[in-house]
Amino acid sequence: MLIIKSAADLHALFPERQKQLAFIPTMGALHAGHISLIRKAREDGFQTLCSIFVNPTQFNERDDYEKYPRSTEADMALLLEAHCDFLFLPSEKEVYPNGTESALSYEFGRLETLLEGAQRPGHFRGVGQVVARLLELVQPQCVYLGQKDFQQCLIIRKLLALMGKSNSIELKIGKTVREPDGLAMSSRNRRLSEPQRALAAVIYQCLISIQTKNSTGNWPVIQKECTELLHYKGFEPEYVALARAADLEPLDAFSKEMPMVALIAARIGEVRLIDNMLLS
Ligand code: PAJ
Repeated sequence: MLIIKSAADLHALFPERQKQLAFIPTMGALHAGHISLIRKAREDGFQTLCSIFVNPTQFNERDDYEKYPRSTEADMALLLEAHCDFLFLPSEKEVYPNGTESALSYEFGRLETLLEGAQRPGHFRGVGQVVARLLELVQPQCVYLGQKDFQQCLIIRKLLALMGKSNSIELKIGKTVREPDGLAMSSRNRRLSEPQRALAAVIYQCLISIQTKNSTGNWPVIQKECTELLHYKGFEPEYVALARAADLEPLDAFSKEMPMVALIAARIGEVRLIDNMLLS
């Protein structure tokens, strides 16, 4: 695996758009969820370039940014094992040469104000900013993202359109990889205490119960039951939502007319977890 640390080296290596190059952006603290994206890209016949950069502009709380787990050595071992071809490991100066304030920022309209956007104002502006910059640098043929961050996938789809790259960069979405008890893998899971970890699969259980009751159930009742269950298990639910999968417009009842997604965000102690499930 070739490790690239500067934008200049990246440009020297890939002076123009790379056919057969898949880009997998990450913030490190890698786990099997991230690695599944590398493997999927390889199975699809691509060379893989993974980036690790903890992007300061997408964190709402300084404390969350500082506490974000960093484990580059262990990450590199996982990437090597997965036969990743290139690792881009830039400093903040390489990503934001003129500072974060002056970096190009895109507007995502209503999509950036819903759900995660409502809970974390400015978060998706930061995600858009860093992914746009990384895409300009890497110039891949496609980008692989995880369904775990469903709203982020829609934001990046919109970003590609805003950048005029919908036709030149393909967006591929990998399934959410879960722990045996159903908890979606996340770098934040490392911050759960043992008792918190034991309770955390309740989010997945709620999503499964929503999926099971889809078509016959009464959404407001199910939403209330899930919210109460999360409270009972010691979580502070931020949202238990049903939305149109295409654009995350909120729904107040199950619909047979369109693909839907159920989404949950909840805090336990200092850790905030999110998960979602597509309903058909
Ligand atoms: P990060 O949280 O490190 O996630 C990197 C990629 O891995 C994202 O596309 C995310 O959806 C995917 N991923 C995370 N957990 C997963 C799981 N359990 N199963 C499958 N895929 C999973 O998302 C970010 O970083 C950042 O916002 C980034 C896009 C890199 C911009 O800074």
